[in-house]
Amino acid sequence: MPSLKHIPFLLAGLWSSTAAADGPIYRDAFIVESEPSSFLQSRSDLLSDVTSALSELGASCKATPRNQFNSPHFTGSSFNLECDSSVEQQAALQAIKNLAAVGKAWPVRQHKAQRNIPSLDGSAHLGLPGVVDSHVGRRQHVPSSHGPNLVIARDSALADTLSTHVETGIDRLHAEGITGMGIRIAVVDSSFDTSVPGLSGTTVGYTKDIISGGSAVGDDCSYHGTHVLGIVGAKGTSVDANSVGYGVNGAAYDATYELYRIQPCGADVAQTDDLIAAFLQAGSAGSIPSGTGPFTGFGAGMALDVMAVGATYNTITPCIQWQGTVTSGGKTSPLSFTPGSRVGFPSTSLAVWSPRKNETAEDPSNTILLVERSQCWVDQDGVSSPRPPGTTSPTSCATCSPPPTPPRNPCPWFTDADAETTRGIISISRAAGLSMITALNQGDDKNATVVTVTLPSNAVAGRVSISSINNTEAGGQLTYYSSWGPSLDGRSRPSLLAPGHNILSTFPSYLGGWGVIGGTSMSTPLVAGVAALVKQTHPAWDGARIQAALALTARPIKFNTRQRSDYGGENRGFLAPVIAQGAGFVDAWAAVHSVTLTNTTALNFNDTAHRPSHLAFTLNNTGSSETLSYTLGHRGAASGYVMNTTYALTTGDAQPIYAELTIVPSSLSLAPGESATVSVSIASEPAMPEAAKRISYFGGYVTIDASSSSGNATTSTLSLPYTAFGGALASLPMINRDATYLAAYDATNQTSGDPLPAGRVFECLYNNNNNNSTTSPPCTFPADGLAPGLALSLVTQTRNLTIDLVDNKTKTSMLPGGGGVYASGSNNPWDGSWYHAWDGRDRNRTFVPAGEYVWSVTALRLNADSGVVERDWDVWESESWVLRYAADSTGLPPEREGVSNEDGVHLLQ
Ligand SMILES: *[C@@H]1O[C@H](CO)[C@@H](O)[C@H](O)[C@H]1NC(C)=O
Ligand SMILES: *[C@@H]1O[C@H](CO)[C@@H](O)[C@H](O)[C@H]1NC(C)=O
Ligand SMILES: *[C@@H]1O[C@H](CO)[C@@H](O)[C@H](O)[C@H]1NC(C)=O
Ligand SMILES: *[C@@H]1O[C@H](CO)[C@@H](O)[C@H](O)[C@H]1NC(C)=O
Ligand SMILES: *[C@@H]1O[C@H](CO)[C@@H](O)[C@H](O)[C@H]1NC(C)=O
Ligand SMILES: *[C@@H]1O[C@H](CO)[C@@H](O)[C@H](O)[C@H]1NC(C)=O
Ligand SMILES: *[C@@H]1O[C@H](CO)[C@@H](O)[C@H](O)[C@H]1NC(C)=O
Ligand SMILES: *[C@@H]1O[C@H](CO)[C@@H](O)[C@H](O)[C@H]1NC(C)=O
Repeated sequence: MPSLKHIPFLLAGLWSSTAAADGPIYRDAFIVESEPSSFLQSRSDLLSDVTSALSELGASCKATPRNQFNSPHFTGSSFNLECDSSVEQQAALQAIKNLAAVGKAWPVRQHKAQRNIPSLDGSAHLGLPGVVDSHVGRRQHVPSSHGPNLVIARDSALADTLSTHVETGIDRLHAEGITGMGIRIAVVDSSFDTSVPGLSGTTVGYTKDIISGGSAVGDDCSYHGTHVLGIVGAKGTSVDANSVGYGVNGAAYDATYELYRIQPCGADVAQTDDLIAAFLQAGSAGSIPSGTGPFTGFGAGMALDVMAVGATYNTITPCIQWQGTVTSGGKTSPLSFTPGSRVGFPSTSLAVWSPRKNETAEDPSNTILLVERSQCWVDQDGVSSPRPPGTTSPTSCATCSPPPTPPRNPCPWFTDADAETTRGIISISRAAGLSMITALNQGDDKNATVVTVTLPSNAVAGRVSISSINNTEAGGQLTYYSSWGPSLDGRSRPSLLAPGHNILSTFPSYLGGWGVIGGTSMSTPLVAGVAALVKQTHPAWDGARIQAALALTARPIKFNTRQRSDYGGENRGFLAPVIAQGAGFVDAWAAVHSVTLTNTTALNFNDTAHRPSHLAFTLNNTGSSETLSYTLGHRGAASGYVMNTTYALTTGDAQPIYAELTIVPSSLSLAPGESATVSVSIASEPAMPEAAKRISYFGGYVTIDASSSSGNATTSTLSLPYTAFGGALASLPMINRDATYLAAYDATNQTSGDPLPAGRVFECLYNNNNNNSTTSPPCTFPADGLAPGLALSLVTQTRNLTIDLVDNKTKTSMLPGGGGVYASGSNNPWDGSWYHAWDGRDRNRTFVPAGEYVWSVTALRLNADSGVVERDWDVWESESWVLRYAADSTGLPPEREGVSNEDGVHLLQ
């Protein structure tokens, strides 16, 4: 087990299902890139080279294949490594990199889907209280006899009225017959259920399970892939007249789909090499890989040549309701609900159980958890809990802000929580829940009133309805969870925005076929669909041109203060920072019809230490008939500071203070097919008084107004975003000195204590006899079970990090061999905070003599030019601590030459 703790993506879960007490001591997985010629080397040769290299490190290892990559974009492979003795990941990586056939190498990392489930974070209480309309697909809806708020949708091939399509102009493209026909789109995700009515008309041309190598991509483990696929490819209005479609169409519903399953059941992460394999296969099959893909983890979203898509709130909040019944005291009444996790449709009556504090259900298989949306979990005694009562899995309640009272949206909401001690979850209204609890509480303690809920067995029996309310507070604005850029090297990110929150799309059968969830996972497939519509119209355009068309035509949006919390935000009258919105809100119709292109999607003016004097772009009239006259101008977007306090980043500072630009030429005319170069420079920086100290950011848009003598110019105003930093990024601290300190690590509870004063003594009881055991480190610390360690917190991500155990007198590293205890590679950015502790296992159980030590942490700064000069590194040293060995230690190695014996006297005192 590596001694770094709490690193979210380091192997956690990678082997969880196979971890056994007597298994290999070191387990890891790596990706290697090789020259195309070396690729001919057979994989078994590579794997045996790897095991030989590891045996030179003293480790007996077995390497087994994972993926093989053979594409013009990437050649190489990935493999698992299992060793019978402990190995430092960095040492193993270095040994692999040293192999002749290997170019670059990386550890396999994990990528989490970015999504946001409204009921768990308290979001989405938006719109007018009690106002329900049937905006979603309302032209398809026919009034039903079930009451004023209930509509049953029937399909017919009518206009596209999905709010997300109306907002982006996709509806107008569909009306023009541009629907993705002839384009192939790859969706790289998991758990696709293509049997649901909304997807049964979708053309699926190829499926591949990257995990198993087979072709089955469906499973009942998640709703994610089914929802994502529906956003781009659902064909709900074209299925047979008896099925229910709710007007849910994908952005490019006539495209042909390739589905790649990259996440196994039970995992909430995907592995890097599986993502690579899926993207490469999709690319070689000729489909448009879906931009950033459904995962917006750092690696994918920040990579060169991909688009990173941020999320806005849908302008409406769709509301799906099923009808069941509730019986209590012999009286049966209707119950509206939304299916949640694992509930299935049992068509049976289930006892209602109301947990008291910390109580689990008596009959879990016959119990469902009834929850209301948009609140932390509260049991009937009013006690809040970080998890649904009676369940053991924590949810994200900690991030939930108190919902407004009274609730602004009466709609029950999809709830995703692993309520493993019940058979599943449904969401109901607060009023219905309270009346059930009241009924349950009637009678005495032993004979509570029996309340039963009966769920319908299918959508028809459940008389499913979809209604919606307008989101007048936040519709069209940036969501509070959409990440801000830039990339670590200062490139503008995100690329643009699309609706992502409160999105109605297809859902797996076991959840009823339709669902409403949100996240940038939902924005990304919409933009992939838009890219397909552009490609259908302009078959000759490559990815760069499609991206330029999307960026130029996107509409910059205004700032709101809704960061990190859904509630209480305010809308502001100035443009949101470019590092929050990129080019702006996607305009599909304008992107397809624009007759002007640039050769870039953004101008990056970098920081003050690397400020280009000017940046140029080409402007091209791609039309075929008219000469266009262009007028170029500048529109400022918000400026702000990167740093808040000395070691804390701001959570989203934005002020209406702008730079001035010099744009040459500021007007020009281009005949069809003609292009010209435009040069842009920063004439004056915005007045941000602490720009150098706190690092300001600023940006805006070069506006491009096009007109023609006939008045025909299809898009009048285009804009190209630019970004810049008003200080040197290399002056940003990397190590958060307020939260980095010498600490004692409790291996049993996996916690580190408070900061320790200098001179703390750690006495190791040494026993290295069983050096094949992960559970027996050479050092235990019998006095209090606490091992010497440090708590480490980074301000932002760093591309290179070293933790070193250093002799405090001689300042030499005690665990040499490539830079101390832990060293990350340059392609391996680290962020967040974690603990590190020493118990004698580091560097293959290298013995560290008694002595006085410090921890030394070295982190590469952003925009550090070379990493060779001292100022490129942020270096921190801990208070000193003392290592001793207990008298009853066994098997201590003989003292090493050159090591001070001053503390060594403790050895055998
Ligand atoms: C809840 O129950 C579990 C298992 O029965 C127990 O370990 C835990 O301490 C209890 N928690 C509280 C707060 O009572
Ligand atoms: C509780 O229910 C049992 C069985 O239905 C009944 O015999 C008993 O009288 C009830 N007790 C009370 C206090 O209602
Ligand atoms: C919701 O918004 C739509 C479109 O703007 C509008 O036509 C409709 O009247 C609104 N509904 C309510 C209840 O405000
Ligand atoms: C900014 O400058 C640094 C240092 O030269 C460079 O590594 C980085 O790529 C530049 N970023 C951009 C967006 O040009
Ligand atoms: C676009 O063209 C300009 C002018 O020729 C050139 O300076 C710039 O590097 C080009 N940008 C990109 C991204 O190719
Ligand atoms: C400008 O657009 C036309 C039409 O798409 C194309 O043929 C030409 O190559 C473009 N020129 C440049 C410099 O991009
Ligand atoms: C700065 O930090 C304080 C304290 O954490 C916080 O309340 C405030 O919102 C932060 N300001 C910005 C702009 O992030
Ligand atoms: C302007 O648009 C109309 C309608 O699309 C078209 O008939 C006409 O040819 C266009 N004029 C020019 C100069 O392109």
